[in-house]
Amino acid sequence: MKIETTIQGVRAALRQARKSGKSVAFVPTMGNLHDGHVELVSEARRRADFVVVSIFVNPTQFGVNEDFDAYPRTLDADASRLAEARCDLLFAPTASEMYPDGRTQSTTVQVGGITDVLCGASRPGHFTGVATVVSKLLNIVQPDMALFGEKDFQQLAVIRRLVSELCFPISIIGVATIRAEDGLALSSRNGFLDEGERAQAPLLYQTLTNLRDAIVNGERDYAMLTAAAKAHLAKCGFQPDYLEVRAQDLESAEADTRDLVILVAARLGSTRLIDNIHFSLS
Ligand code: PAJ
Repeated sequence: MKIETTIQGVRAALRQARKSGKSVAFVPTMGNLHDGHVELVSEARRRADFVVVSIFVNPTQFGVNEDFDAYPRTLDADASRLAEARCDLLFAPTASEMYPDGRTQSTTVQVGGITDVLCGASRPGHFTGVATVVSKLLNIVQPDMALFGEKDFQQLAVIRRLVSELCFPISIIGVATIRAEDGLALSSRNGFLDEGERAQAPLLYQTLTNLRDAIVNGERDYAMLTAAAKAHLAKCGFQPDYLEVRAQDLESAEADTRDLVILVAARLGSTRLIDNIHFSLS
């Protein structure tokens, strides 16, 4: 596996791969890799001849009081995992390589509408940071396809929209969420949980599966269902941010909407966890 830290280095390495007619798949990450990230790399490996992964903790998608400084940086361990997963090229730029003029570059990519709700409502500016850095990374790598996890369901929707509306010639592939045995969605932030919080955390996914089962069994009063589930989470020590049933395009869910997703964000101690479950009614 080649490791490049500059845009120029990545472009040179990719020129070589393209010359020999290889298809290129790209997996952007912020590092501290776990089995969820590795699944994206394995899926990329199955679909393309040349696999590129980026590791960059993107400052512009973190709010001022968020965990940018505390975000785990484990580049050496990440590089070994990626080599094992048969990644061909790791791009690990510095902040000044990506943002030579500092965090406040004058061009940003703002996706409207779907970024106003859910995580977009509680993390103002977050999705503009994500859309901007993903656009830059896609322009640097120019892959045939890019893979993103369904774990970040709204992020995946934002990226699909941006790629479609700005005419990037890139297929976006969503990959199902990888979970621990007890159901907790794998996340780099799980490492922030203490032992008690880690034991409590699977309740988030249990709540989602219980709600899904109730809806599959005919329950349609989503406001009542989610209010009760939020109250239960709060009683069990979570500070729920949102818990919503929506259509899979993130529009509001009506009683006759068939393709549904339930999305949750909640704080456990100081750690903010998100999860979702999607399903279709027959
Ligand atoms: P990060 O949180 O490192 O996630 C990188 C990719 O891994 C994302 O597409 C995310 O959805 C996926 N992922 C995380 N946990 C997963 C799990 N348990 N199962 C399956 N996939 C999972 O998301 C970001 O980084 C950043 O916002 C980024 C897109 C890199 C832009 O900075």
